[in-house]
Amino acid sequence: MLDKRIVDLINSQINKEFYSSYLYLDMSNYFYDQNLNGFGNWFGIQVQEEYAHAMLFLKYMLNNGEKVVLDAIAKPDIELNNIAQVLEETYQHELLISKWINDIYVVAYELKDFKTMQFLDWFVKEQGEEEQKSNDLCKRYELFGTDARGLYMLDAELSTRVFAAPSLVI
Ligand code: FEO
Repeated sequence: MLDKRIVDLINSQINKEFYSSYLYLDMSNYFYDQNLNGFGNWFGIQVQEEYAHAMLFLKYMLNNGEKVVLDAIAKPDIELNNIAQVLEETYQHELLISKWINDIYVVAYELKDFKTMQFLDWFVKEQGEEEQKSNDLCKRYELFGTDARGLYMLDAELSTRVFAAPSLVI
């Protein structure tokens, strides 16, 4: 059994991960609409990653005998105006996800819930990578993407991204 504070936070995090998946689906559609299929693919992988994160939290709850409470998933509320802005929103959203994970970690630390801390360690590392990846894409778009040829090549590169299932086993 887990402390109620942890249960509530993880239930909320499950919803946030599903929301993140939904948000990236909206972004993926935004790019496919413009025939930027490589960007659409890159965001499609984000969709799968966030869904996988939600399922990891969900499984952790079930493995600990806790009830999973699914809430409504909010409509994506970020306006998608141009490529640079969508990429920056992605980076900012990853920073926000990191904050959510850290907030759970703080409570687990206070409760001396070492099991949950160990579970969250994977997410802390993963978020470091997600922040770096999304920031890197912002930077590369800034450098090459505003030129038509550069955008074409960046889009082609992003079309090669494939989904790798999380390495965390629960
Ligand atoms: Fe669920 Fe991109 O973090």
